[in-house]
Amino acid sequence: MILIAPSILSADFTRIEEAVKLVESSGADLVHVDIMDGHYVPNLTFGPRLVSLLKKKTALPLDVHLMVDNPNDVIPWFIEAGADWISIHIEASKHLHRDVSLIREAGRTAGLALNPATPLHTLNDIIKEIDFVLLMCVNPGRGSQPFIESSHEKIRSLRRWMKEHELKALLEIDGGVNLRNIQSLVKDGAQVFVAGNAVFNHPDPREAVRQMKETAREVDAS
Ligand code: DX5
Ligand code: ZN
Repeated sequence: MILIAPSILSADFTRIEEAVKLVESSGADLVHVDIMDGHYVPNLTFGPRLVSLLKKKTALPLDVHLMVDNPNDVIPWFIEAGADWISIHIEASKHLHRDVSLIREAGRTAGLALNPATPLHTLNDIIKEIDFVLLMCVNPGRGSQPFIESSHEKIRSLRRWMKEHELKALLEIDGGVNLRNIQSLVKDGAQVFVAGNAVFNHPDPREAVRQMKETAREVDAS
C-alpha cells in the first residue's frame, strides 16, 4: 500500500487550481491541504472556503491536515467543506475521543497527527478508534524543511506496534519526504507519503510524483 499525497502548501497560491489539476493528472492518490491557524503553528494558510472550492475542482480525496488550536471548533467547518480525510494534532485536542468521533460520525477518515517530539504512547487509548496516524517528520509550520532523521526509528516502532496488535490504521508521514529517502521510508513501514517541496519545486512536478510512486513501489513489492 503506497499512497502519494502532494501538499499544495508548496504550490503557487495564485495558481492553486492549476496545481490541483496537475496533482490529479500525475497519478497522485490524495491532495494534502495544510491548514495553519497562526496559533498552533506560526503560519497562516487556508480556511474551509478554499477546501470547498477545491472539492469542486478535483475528484481526488482531500487530505486536510489541521494544524490548529481547539480543533473541535473547526472540524465541522471542514466536514461541511467536503474534507475527506481530516487529521488533528494530538497535542492540540482537549478531548481526543470526542474530536475523532466527530470526524468519523460524519463518515470521514479520521487521523491523529503527532509532532516529532510527541511520544507514540500518547496514541495508546485511541489508536483503535482512528483510520490513520500522521507522523510529522519535521516541526509543523512550513514546507521545505529537512527530514528529522530520528523519525525513521519512530516509524519503525509504530509499524512494529501496529503489527503486533493487528492495528488497522494507515501510517502517513509528513515533512521532508523526497525521492532520495522514500524507499527507506517504505522499508520503515510508512504507507502514505505527503510531499510538498519534492513535488512543487521539481522542474516537472508530474514527473516527480510518478518517480516517487514508482520508486516506492519497487521496494514495497519486494
Ligand atoms: C508542514 C506541513 C507539510 C508540508 C510538507 O507543516 O504539514 O504538509 O507541506 O512539506 P515538505 O514536503 O516540503 O516537507
Ligand atoms: Zn501537512
